[in-house]
Amino acid sequence: MASNDFKIGVLVSGRGTNLQAIIDAIENGQVDARIVLVLSHKQDAPALERANKHGIESLWLDPEPFAGKKEYDRAVAGELKERGVDLVCLAGYMRILDPEFIRAFQGKIINIHPSLLPAFPGLNVQQKAIDYGVKFSGCTVHFVNEEVDAGPIILQAVVPVHESDNAESLAERILIQEHLIYPRALQMIVENRLHINNRKVSTQESVPP
Ligand code: GRF
Repeated sequence: MASNDFKIGVLVSGRGTNLQAIIDAIENGQVDARIVLVLSHKQDAPALERANKHGIESLWLDPEPFAGKKEYDRAVAGELKERGVDLVCLAGYMRILDPEFIRAFQGKIINIHPSLLPAFPGLNVQQKAIDYGVKFSGCTVHFVNEEVDAGPIILQAVVPVHESDNAESLAERILIQEHLIYPRALQMIVENRLHINNRKVSTQESVPP
């Protein structure tokens, strides 16, 4: 696939530092792709502003007028399909996707999660890691399937948990690694280097799409 032909849609809810890491990696040539849409269910998500600053189309799609999650997610899928996205990146997207959405983009949705999955899925996971007493935590980039935070794992990075840590300090240390592995995972997908077998993701030399 020629440079920039790989189209990414990013779904966000908040500050968007992972979105920023992806934008930066694209701008510095580390990721050979183009973000065609940044979509949020939250009007005030700072991530939308980050997209605007870089001349990337941003869209606030208000869930309010929709009958429910299925209908909303259908509309989100429509926006992404309309722009021909090859991959959907969840970057701090706080909504659980409807199964119909996940099927519509089977194998084409990835997420970043701030723990070493399968440990600590869900929310407030840095606090959970501290409360459990683990000595290491980290982050995981994974494919999204119909179970929350349970899809095939693409990349992980390990981070030490210090005795003096609170959830914020641990989150900060993990975030640094998130910003490194998310773009790396992305580029592996752009290069079509990932192969999934029995939920195990292996990397292989570039194969034609
Ligand atoms: C990150 O910690 C990510 O792992 C989790 O939500 C947070 C989003 O942060 N899914 P940001 O919006 O990318 O700054």
